Amino acid sequence: MTDAGGGPYIEDMTPGGEVAGTYGVAGKRLRSFRDPSRGRFLQLRLRDVTGSIAGLLWEGAEEVAESFSVGDVLRVRGQVEEYRGQKQLVLQSLDPSPAESVRPERFIPPSPRSLDEMERELWRRVEMVEDPHLSQLLLILFQEEETYSSFITAPAGKTVHHNYLHGLLEHSLEVVSILTREDCTDEMDTDLLITGGLLHDVGKIEEYFCRAAIGYTDEGRLLGHIVMGDAMLRKALRRVPDISRRRALHLRHLLLSHHGKQEYGSPVLPQTPEAVALHHADLYSGRVGQVRIVADGAAESGGDWSEFDPMLGRYVWVASEKEAGQADE
Ligand SMILES: [Fe+2]
Ligand SMILES: [Fe+2]
Repeated sequence: MTDAGGGPYIEDMTPGGEVAGTYGVAGKRLRSFRDPSRGRFLQLRLRDVTGSIAGLLWEGAEEVAESFSVGDVLRVRGQVEEYRGQKQLVLQSLDPSPAESVRPERFIPPSPRSLDEMERELWRRVEMVEDPHLSQLLLILFQEEETYSSFITAPAGKTVHHNYLHGLLEHSLEVVSILTREDCTDEMDTDLLITGGLLHDVGKIEEYFCRAAIGYTDEGRLLGHIVMGDAMLRKALRRVPDISRRRALHLRHLLLSHHGKQEYGSPVLPQTPEAVALHHADLYSGRVGQVRIVADGAAESGGDWSEFDPMLGRYVWVASEKEAGQADE
């Protein structure tokens, strides 16, 4: 894997090598030396998209420890050593990295789907919308450079589902695909379904930040993506003055009700066929994605079953077929 400008990736580090690069802080502890007169040293867990490594700073640890927190990105210099069979990085220096220089793809994996392919699909969906007002609304949002770049980059979750770069785009397209299956949309307003499907989680572009890890912004925690998405939608709707009151209301209702229940964060229950459909398509995409993440985690650790997942309230079985010759008796 190439270093993308941030120094070597952790999986490529070899004992004896010198390292200068940027890494996320996944853990941080000041520990006392055995000889208490030497004060304390800093023990870090540094990470990137390929893995994690222990980082140790022997000198000047107490002064520098104040200058950063877990979740920050550091620019470090050091040497890779091996200790008890594990690689570790003995640091000569470390500095907090300025926010604008952090490239989230160095720390957060991307969607398994190709971004190019998903962008093409997004524009195909936008072009399918025949209603001129909804079409205008989508163009207002997606032709605005910052909104578009955030929409195609953002994750759709921190841990639960589509929790990787471009996850929001992947999830939104999946919801639209489910909603536009021809055999079940006869009586539905397809333009509204596509627009609602694409925009239902648009607030997530401001709900999360991506640095060394995906985290919640203050607004995300305090307001949530439904309220934030509605504010973005209302702002964009003001630039479509000819849209009818009922149509604008219906679209806002789709966004506000998409979690389906008040205890899941929607202020209102879905009250039209399109809103019920969006809620179920969202649940389908989210829940299947959630089970897939748990199953993949279990498969990676070599098990047939996941640990009990408290969010799902169940164990998940790794259902993939075993290789030939390994079939169960
Ligand atoms: Fe949502
Ligand atoms: Fe969603």
